[in-house]
Amino acid sequence: MEKSLGASFLIFCLHLGWVSCQQKVEQSPPTQTVQEGENTTFSCHYSDSGSRAVQWFKQDPGKGLISLFYIASEGKQKGRLRSTINRKELLSSLYITDSQPEDSGIYLCAVEPQ
Ligand SMILES: *[C@@H]1O[C@H](CO)[C@@H](O)[C@H](O)[C@H]1NC(C)=O
Repeated sequence: MEKSLGASFLIFCLHLGWVSCQQKVEQSPPTQTVQEGENTTFSCHYSDSGSRAVQWFKQDPGKGLISLFYIASEGKQKGRLRSTINRKELLSSLYITDSQPEDSGIYLCAVEPQ
């Protein structure tokens, strides 16, 4: 059987008590399917310029929320995942290089208020 489907992603704005959740997600529609080996970018816009940090999570079925990155000022890298923040543009991005089927899932970004 041909394996053409790499990973499918869903991105959501996270609602937790301690975060403000005002960001819009650039992707439209918010579901994205990529081929295995492709690169993927998620963008998370937020509107509160006083926000201190952005946090990225992945939700895995049966495993709950996994914290991927906590980004306050500079970019971070973890294996094939990288995240950056641009405080001027109120934008945080999550990059996945060489997408693999196990990357499939729901990704969430949360903005920490002042
Ligand atoms: C994905 O990104 C990596 C690192 O930036 C680059 O080397 C590679 O060519 C990109 N792959 C594709 C399919 O664009």
